[in-house]
Amino acid sequence: MATFQTLPGFREFYPEDFARRNHVFRLWRQTASTYGFVEYDAPVLEPLELYKAKSGDEIEGQLFSFTDKGGREVALRPEMTPTVCRLIGAKASALKRPIKWFSIGEFYRYERMQKGRGRCFSQFNADIFGEPGPEAEIELIALLTQCLCAFGLTEQDFYVRLSDRNLWFYYLEALGLDEPRIRSVLGVVDKFEKAGDEAFKSYTEQFGELDAALKAKVLAFLQIKSLAALEALLAPIGGEKLAARLVEWRKLLGGLKAMGLERFIEVDLGVVRGLAYYTGFVFEAFDRKGELRALAGGGRYDDLVQKLGGPAFPAVGFAIGDMTFALLLEQRGLTPTMVQSPDVYCVIGGEAERIAAFGAIQTIRASGYRVDYPMRDVAFGKQLKAASDSGAKLALIFGADELAKGVVKIRNLGDRTESEVPSADVMSAVREFFTG
Ligand code: HAM
Repeated sequence: MATFQTLPGFREFYPEDFARRNHVFRLWRQTASTYGFVEYDAPVLEPLELYKAKSGDEIEGQLFSFTDKGGREVALRPEMTPTVCRLIGAKASALKRPIKWFSIGEFYRYERMQKGRGRCFSQFNADIFGEPGPEAEIELIALLTQCLCAFGLTEQDFYVRLSDRNLWFYYLEALGLDEPRIRSVLGVVDKFEKAGDEAFKSYTEQFGELDAALKAKVLAFLQIKSLAALEALLAPIGGEKLAARLVEWRKLLGGLKAMGLERFIEVDLGVVRGLAYYTGFVFEAFDRKGELRALAGGGRYDDLVQKLGGPAFPAVGFAIGDMTFALLLEQRGLTPTMVQSPDVYCVIGGEAERIAAFGAIQTIRASGYRVDYPMRDVAFGKQLKAASDSGAKLALIFGADELAKGVVKIRNLGDRTESEVPSADVMSAVREFFTG
């Protein structure tokens, strides 16, 4: 007989895994709401056009796309950003600013599978619309760090690399490069960390060998690891654009410092982000040991709402992926064990006692307590074992003797003490036990 398996790169969540994932989502939700973000959602299947030429070649090549029965070209969403821009664009004038939105959902990319990368994964997306200044970046980078710290991770476990596509543009412009060449150099920078000198090949193919002096200046910029080094390198170049940009940098880093987050941040101009729509500050979170792929990535994308048919609208945001994040928690021994136990386990003598127990079970559940019981007649001893194995704190014993006396036996599964209460008082006895 044929056995069916998941498609490569797709995941199944057995209850323990699902409980763990839920716990992660719950903490991300809680954290986002403490920052004043509100939740939204949108379709997983979108018009293919939404991603064409907007997300960039890499994502376009990874789309799960097909023609639907109505002849429409569609794609499973590889990311949330174009979708949320459409939502914002459609209601821009009606929305109160700043708009602080988050969502948690599943995304699909036909990627080569590797550790921490699948074809179906979840992301927590948070974005701020309507704020042109670095105040939005401060808020988002703070939220990003909090979303990781909420699980017990610290600055020893992860850090955020901060860079700036604007600064790269102004710098390369000041060095005399035109826009197509600047874009090509940014492509090189994006690949440089992994590919080294090989990364320059794509530039050479387009424009011929990059002048050696220029290449040295690109490499020098890549080495920068602090604002002071950045200021020193840019001082001799001067120019209004660069000076104004450095003011933004100071604001951003000053704000993060005032929030006590400096310890998480590293200036690193090696990050430029592969996605096509970023326009300003960009950032990525990584594990400190450098063993895993990116935990999160984001940046400013001031043109995308307009490119997708809305008004001009400044925007900045990021997404955390759940896969690398789970690996990091595992490495640090912070993976939560999360399967929920019942509060109360009912031990039931036989058929007649079962009928008597049902009323109590429903009343206790209706009050919000988790109650479980065996579905069929099982020996008393086995039931008591099941009660303590279940993790419940309390067992209610509905035996024939108890039924005859009009009582229910209550056993504290912690200290094994027992008492009897009249059947009519079971609910108040349970409440008394849990609330003291
Ligand atoms: P991204 O860098 O493509 O950015 O993805 C963000 C995070 O999602 C990554 O750092 C990674 O943790 C996770 N991720 C991406 N692809 C995969 C995959 N194939 N398997 C597992 N995890 C993956 C974006 O998606 C932007 N739209 C983020 C953003 C929001 N920018 C502005 N707002």
